[in-house]
Amino acid sequence: MREYAIKGGAPLVGEVEIGGAKNAALGILAGALLSNETVEIENVPDLYDTNVMMDALKELGAYVEKVDRHTVRINGAGVHKTELDNDDLKKIRGSYYFAGSLLGKYKNARIALPGGCNIGSRPVDQHIKGFNALGASVQIENGCLVCEAESLTGTHIYLDVVSVGTTINVMLAAVLASGQTYIENAAKEPHVVDVANFLNSMGAHVRGAGTDVIRITGVESLHAAKYSIIPDQIEAGTFMLAAAVTKGDVLVKNVIPKHLESITSKLLEIGCEVEEFDDAVRVVASKPFKHTQVKTLPYPGFPTDMQPQIVVALGLAEGTSIVTESIFENRFRYVDELTRLGANIKVEGNTAIIEGVEKYRGANITAPDLRAGAALVVAGLASEGYTLVDDIHYVERGYEDFPEKLAGLGAAIQVVNDEKELTKFKLKVG
Ligand code: EPZ
Repeated sequence: MREYAIKGGAPLVGEVEIGGAKNAALGILAGALLSNETVEIENVPDLYDTNVMMDALKELGAYVEKVDRHTVRINGAGVHKTELDNDDLKKIRGSYYFAGSLLGKYKNARIALPGGCNIGSRPVDQHIKGFNALGASVQIENGCLVCEAESLTGTHIYLDVVSVGTTINVMLAAVLASGQTYIENAAKEPHVVDVANFLNSMGAHVRGAGTDVIRITGVESLHAAKYSIIPDQIEAGTFMLAAAVTKGDVLVKNVIPKHLESITSKLLEIGCEVEEFDDAVRVVASKPFKHTQVKTLPYPGFPTDMQPQIVVALGLAEGTSIVTESIFENRFRYVDELTRLGANIKVEGNTAIIEGVEKYRGANITAPDLRAGAALVVAGLASEGYTLVDDIHYVERGYEDFPEKLAGLGAAIQVVNDEKELTKFKLKVG
């Protein structure tokens, strides 16, 4: 038993500080080995996934020094192997970025095929297509992606689907290739732009990140750099939704409001107030929610990683809302858990039809993956009575100090490891 115990009902009020973007950090950590000089990376979130990436860097022979909780120095000069096949690495998605960076620098890589959240089939055909186009041969052998090349040469690569992972992986492989690489139909997510900016800070020549054509001119080598990772758009969005569903008033600090526009716009539509500052957004919810429609799309559309959180809010809105998931086909697995709290949601294919209910009531529920787990916590905070959320290791993969940050806003939430701790929690919160 390791669960979040939650007593719902309290509006979240106060200020919360958002950490560095997990999905940018994963690409950046893998990219750090591209240089033989020391790169210092700040604002690295302290999460399971980022720690696995740093352990993998050490295993490869890179020098990794944690300067403080969120700053790391990495030097890739000592890398002496190009193979990674450990069990921790298989659990995380970002591990495949080592295929791009090792292939780019050493012209070969053997990386265990990535795991990550079970949110639908997650093929790697586009990554393979990109590496092939640069001149590498790629096989899948014993569950590993095996990439080899004599040399890598820039070319035009058209992605059949807009893929964050492929865009980052091809950038990592192409920055040291000879000539020009064009990634067409590239992903435009803020973390794609952040990885490009990081590579440029090391002397790479990546242009157009944030548009659908990225142009990379290969350079001979990359140099030392100091770089700070952007704030996490999804952590910020999750706190915005937590403020909304608890009818709270929260200032979400250290964010880039532009990255949150699609979330802000839905919150305004359902009747929340959202005030934007230079590097913060304030969400105030005092009125009943109105129903709306949401479709997940690649950036700048509404992020699939915020889909479960918006469904939690719409489950409490007046009338019927429709949410369409267009990125991952298996991303409504949490709906059964939400139903235990009293939600009235029917899923047909990639669409959720949500009949708003007046309130949720606490229950024992299980996190099926990272973002859905966070959304269920948010639902618990808005529920009457106690909610226990199980399998919280998923949530811990993407949210640093989640219960502590929520408690700082007045939520009654705590990690409990046994019945005794649960009883103590209940006595404490009344
Ligand atoms: C990244 O996954 C994120 N993960 C995901 O966040 C996020 O949900 C997703 O992008 C979409 O924004 C990381 O950055 C580590 P994709 P990724 O390649 O890169 C299809 C979280 O909770 N596709 O953009 O794996 C794929 O099936 C996680 O933090 C192919 O068909 O996603 C999907 O339908 C969950 N072939 C679509 O593209 C490929 O070779 C987008 O996937 C690759 C992808």
